[in-house]
Amino acid sequence: MTVSSAPGKVYLLGEHAVVYGEPAVLCAIERRATVTATARDDDRIRVQARDLTIDGFSVEYGDGVVDETADIDVPHPLVEAAVGYVDGAIEQVREIVDDSTGFTITIESDIPLGAGLGSSAAVVVAAIDAATREMGVELAPEEIADRAYRVEHDVQDGQASRADTFCSAMGGTVRVEGVDCQTIEESPRLPLVIGYDGGAGDTGALVAGVRGLKDEYDFAADTVRAIGDAVRTGERALADENRQEFGRLMDFNHGLLSALGVSSRSLDAMVWAARDAGALGAKLTGAGGGGCIVALDPTPDTETALQYTPGCEEAFRAELDRDGVRVESE
Ligand code: PMV
Repeated sequence: MTVSSAPGKVYLLGEHAVVYGEPAVLCAIERRATVTATARDDDRIRVQARDLTIDGFSVEYGDGVVDETADIDVPHPLVEAAVGYVDGAIEQVREIVDDSTGFTITIESDIPLGAGLGSSAAVVVAAIDAATREMGVELAPEEIADRAYRVEHDVQDGQASRADTFCSAMGGTVRVEGVDCQTIEESPRLPLVIGYDGGAGDTGALVAGVRGLKDEYDFAADTVRAIGDAVRTGERALADENRQEFGRLMDFNHGLLSALGVSSRSLDAMVWAARDAGALGAKLTGAGGGGCIVALDPTPDTETALQYTPGCEEAFRAELDRDGVRVESE
């Protein structure tokens, strides 16, 4: 039995535009997905999941056939997606160890599902690490990131950047621009507050929506490029530890994302609650449509304000996690 964990993340700047080659800056947060992999005597895969902000479920399948009757009490697309990610992770493991050993995979996660905090990337990264170690193979985090990206890319029909999976595998603050993925050493700890509306966005549909606008209107393509400019300016502000300017750029980035149609009423309500409470900046994080916002506030005021904001289900402070994927026990 091997247990590995990997962190979730927030986009500080640059989601959506990163899909078109603009840079993005993300940081891992101290909320983790933990995956236990136990090799089986047969070639079947059994997936058990708890604490995924959905009711627990377990699924057993082999030869590509999913037994969907087992313990499922959650919306079907979420189960399919979760199983798809684990399936992809196991395919990667079987490529590496050249073996068709089955696994029982148990997932526990305190990252809300599909809410812009990188839950699926964390599950895939931790699953690849746990299952390869279970087979006696230890991969470098960079290779886990690359293989996890391939899984996300397939499950999301070719609409994924390398950002989530790289950030989850490496931990800390990272910069991603196309295939160029780097960790930002000595990045300052930012006073991050998360607001969560209890919902989830459909990443594929949201990415397709932005692509459609960008293809139809030059000004939408300019908006995507403007996000890239905001990120480049933000990187300098981050290096200078200029939180005021960084916050202003987060606000700007949210406005541009909103223009591209990926915000929502509840995300906007939380962003404005944070700004009214004195946050240095606030924006949605991830694909949008619902889920989470991230705000910059060294005082307790934003967290308190979000707790009283209609539409906000949970507010919490997020600490930077400098650890990426790590083994918990083997
Ligand atoms: O919502 P998340 O955490 O899956 O992030 C999606 C981020 C996008 O830029 C919209 C897509 C991507 O793969 O980078």
